[in-house]
Amino acid sequence: MEPILNFLAAIPWWAYVLGALGLIAFRDIFIQKSHTISHNYPIVGHLRYWMESIGPEMRQYFVANNREELPFNRIERGWIYASAKKENNYEGFGTDRDIYEHQHIFVKNQMMAFKIPEGHPNALHKDFVPCAKVMGIHNKRRKPYRPASIINVSAMSFGSLSAAAVEAMNKGVAKADAYHNTGEGGLSPYHKQGGDVVFHFGTGYFGVRSSDGNLSLEKLEKLVNDNPCIKAIEIKLSQGAKPGKGGVLPGAKITKEIAEIRGVEVGKDVLSPATHKAFSNVSELMDLIEKIAEITGLPVGIKGAIGKLDQWEELADIMVETGKGPDFIAVDGGEGGTGAAPPSFADHVSLPWVYGFSELYKVFQTRNITHRIVFIGSGKLGFPAKAAMAFAMGVDCINVAREAMMSIGCIQAQICHTNRCPAGIATQNKWRQNGINIPLKSDRLAQYFKTFRKELIEITHAAGYEHPCQFTMHDIQVNVDDIDLTRNLRTTYGYNKTQVPFKGSQVLYDCEYLGGKNFTESAK
Ligand SMILES: Cc1cc2nc3c(=O)[nH]c(=O)nc-3n(C[C@H](O)[C@H](O)[C@H](O)COP(=O)(O)O)c2cc1C
Repeated sequence: MEPILNFLAAIPWWAYVLGALGLIAFRDIFIQKSHTISHNYPIVGHLRYWMESIGPEMRQYFVANNREELPFNRIERGWIYASAKKENNYEGFGTDRDIYEHQHIFVKNQMMAFKIPEGHPNALHKDFVPCAKVMGIHNKRRKPYRPASIINVSAMSFGSLSAAAVEAMNKGVAKADAYHNTGEGGLSPYHKQGGDVVFHFGTGYFGVRSSDGNLSLEKLEKLVNDNPCIKAIEIKLSQGAKPGKGGVLPGAKITKEIAEIRGVEVGKDVLSPATHKAFSNVSELMDLIEKIAEITGLPVGIKGAIGKLDQWEELADIMVETGKGPDFIAVDGGEGGTGAAPPSFADHVSLPWVYGFSELYKVFQTRNITHRIVFIGSGKLGFPAKAAMAFAMGVDCINVAREAMMSIGCIQAQICHTNRCPAGIATQNKWRQNGINIPLKSDRLAQYFKTFRKELIEITHAAGYEHPCQFTMHDIQVNVDDIDLTRNLRTTYGYNKTQVPFKGSQVLYDCEYLGGKNFTESAK
């Protein structure tokens, strides 16, 4: 043994380095077959992959300016972090924004601001801003609900978020009198930490799923009866980041506990189908809303991202005819977040919030039924001036997802889909989520909500109003970018495509000229 060790010790260090590099070069050229760059430029090719992998962090920390990044720029993130920590969230010397740039929002202040009378709730609680409408009152539900906070936690499931993050959020909403939307993953023990809950389900019916993958009304009724923290029920039709896509929770995130809560298998990707089994058209959806409201007594709403309006028109018509309908509608913008979505969907499918919401609101306004619905907006609205704009357009409440994540420490690493979230929020990795100090983070979420409400109410008062529900469309100005500047392709390019004959995908599948072979081979 000793002669071998002596021999190895006699070899100079650089010979080891050269040897290792030689092995890497050998592997690059002769063994690996998947990277052309490494093959053509052995060893140095790796630098390219490494530089590419650290590029986002380099740009975020050193290159991007304060207003440059998306989805949330440094100033926006900084405002949330400082507000959540109750630190100084002011800026000195005046705005650093080009306030002439397009889409910039102006709130028109009143000559004399609203004066808070003595004994007014805002004299006692500077952040008291509840929802001005009551969910379920019009439809005479047995248990109507008025959200005590106009800002609330948007749908994010236990599964896409860690147990620690969900628990911190629920404890946070309890402290801030807000509600916590469960997202699609069912009601977990971490949602039952004292906060009001909006139970949300999508096409996977997780937590209220029958053995054939449909919605079980019995399970839903039992869930509501067993959990008085549930104040309302939301049926997800779509979300801004991936409308009509369904969802994928990567197998890497499916622990035993999540599998039990959702009623699925450990370690296997979980797919929520693109469409619902429990209804297939608008009138069946309306029936389901009534059924759920009847058995649970709770307000029932729907969540959707907006694109085409014809089915929404149909829904509004049925509401007029029957006098019934959803108690609330949550409108998500195309800029909305997700745990995982293909970029083609996240970037292109569904309208941005301002366009989608304004179109949808008119559908109900022209039928004079907006008063029957609590409108909820989500899509980067967790900033007081943007919220003022949303209120002016007709929302009654704001839901926030990523802003809530940032308040408990999200650093916008944008790797929610990998289970490697460095902040322990969008991961099921125990080590990473153990870093979350739940009492501290719940304080932070609560403080962000309180600061948000305090600033929004201050803006409201500056505009001469008492409550943000009083904002009108005339109170907010936006530089140029109105709906008239976005046009459909027909108007832009001056022609209509000639219709392509199409008799169904089966015809294409069976076609003798079908190229490729993967599809046809797998069917054999
Ligand atoms: C990690 C994550 C998980 C989400 N899960 C759901 C979900 O289960 N159901 C849903 O309707 N929306 C889901 N969303 C979308 C949010 O509820 C919200 O509509 C969207 O992110 C816009 O709000 P924001 O701009 O404040 O993030 C999720 C978003 C994120 C970031």
